[in-house]
Amino acid sequence: MSRYTIALIEGDGIGREVIPAARTVLQATGLSFDFIEAEAGWETFNERGVSVPEETLKAVYRADATLFGAVSSPSEKVPGYYSAIRYLRQEMGLFANIRPAKSRPLAGMATGIDMLIVRENTEGLYYGVERTYANGEVAVAERVVTRGASTRIARFAFEKALQRRKRLAVVHKANVLSLSDGLFLQAVGGVAQEYPQVETETVIVDACAMRLVRHPASFDVLVMENMFGDILSDVSAGVTGGLGLAPSGNIGTKGALFEPVHGSAPDIAGMGVANPIAAILSAALMLDHLGERQAAKAIENAVNTALSNGILTPDLGGSASTEEVAEKISETTRSILSYD
Ligand code: NAI
Ligand code: MG
Repeated sequence: MSRYTIALIEGDGIGREVIPAARTVLQATGLSFDFIEAEAGWETFNERGVSVPEETLKAVYRADATLFGAVSSPSEKVPGYYSAIRYLRQEMGLFANIRPAKSRPLAGMATGIDMLIVRENTEGLYYGVERTYANGEVAVAERVVTRGASTRIARFAFEKALQRRKRLAVVHKANVLSLSDGLFLQAVGGVAQEYPQVETETVIVDACAMRLVRHPASFDVLVMENMFGDILSDVSAGVTGGLGLAPSGNIGTKGALFEPVHGSAPDIAGMGVANPIAAILSAALMLDHLGERQAAKAIENAVNTALSNGILTPDLGGSASTEEVAEKISETTRSILSYD
C-alpha cells in the first residue's frame, strides 16, 4: 500500500482548529500517512520575522501534497511581511486553482449542482503590475494574459472535463477586453481542437455570474482568468452552503497544495465552533489528486451523511463543535471503508 508524506500547515486563527480536524478524518481512511507539521503565516512572521520559514519550504517540497489551513494578513502594509499563501502559490508554480461546488443535503439548497471552477492562478489582473500618475490621482493596473499560461490552464480544464460530464464553459469579457480576453479565448479555442469529445461553450462573465445564481446546475467545468475565478468561485461557494463548506486545490508543476477557501476567521477563532468541512473536503480533494479515489469519495459521502443528520456547526444553524463534526465524519468514513 502507498504511504503518503503530507505537509500540514495550520497557519493562523481557525486554521489551527480545522487542520487537526481534517487530519483526524485522513487517519480514518486507513491509508498510511507521514505528516510533517510546518509553520507559516502572521504569527510565524511576528515570532520569527518571516512568513514562510526555510524548513516549511523544505517540507512542502518533500511532501507528496500539502494541506494548508488559513493565514491572517494585516490590513495595513507591514514592512517585510508577505502573504504566505500567495508566496507558496508563486514559489511552487501552482498555476491551477480548482474550486468544486456541489449541492449538499441541507434545507433549502438547490439540488443537482456539481461544478468545478478552474481558475488561472498566476496572471490576469492579479499579476500585480500597478502604478500611479498625476501625484496619485490616477492609478493603473495592468492585466497580463499570455498564450502560454492560457493554453496551460485550458489543457488542465479540458482534462478535468474529460473525467467528468465532458462540458466546459469558457468565461471571458472579450467583448470589452478584446485583446487580453481575445487572446485567452483564442488560446482556449486552440486547445479545444484537441478535445472534440468535450462540449465547449463561451459565456460572458457577467452573464455567468447570474447563471451561477439562477441555474447553477447547468454547469460542469468552468475555466477563467484569475480575478474572474476569485469572484465567481465565491458565488459558487455561496450557492452551495457558504465558506464553511468550500474546498480548493492549487496544482502546479512543483507540487500541489489544498486549502479551504475561507480565511483565519478571527471572529470565531479559539472557540471550537469553526466548520471543519471545508478543510475536510480539501483533504478529500487532495486524496483524489493522489489517486485515492475511493477514500476521497468515502470522505465526501461521510460529509453528506453528517449534514443530512443535522450534525452542523453554528454557521449552518446548528450547535455542534468542530471536534464533534470531525468525529462523526471520521466514524462514517471508517464504516464506509469498513477495514476494521
Ligand atoms: P474569513 O473567511 O476568515 O471569514 C469570513 C466570515 O466567515 C467570518 O464571519 C468567519 O467567522 C466566517 N467563516 C469563515 N470560515 C468559517 C468556518 N470554517 N466556519 C465557520 N465560519 C467561518 O474572511 P475575512 O474575515 O475576510 O478574513 C479574516 C483573515 O483571513 C484576514 O486576515 C484575511 O487576510 C485572511 N484570509 C486568508 C485567506 C487564506 O489564508 N487563504 C483567505 C481569505 C482571508
Ligand atoms: Mg477570494
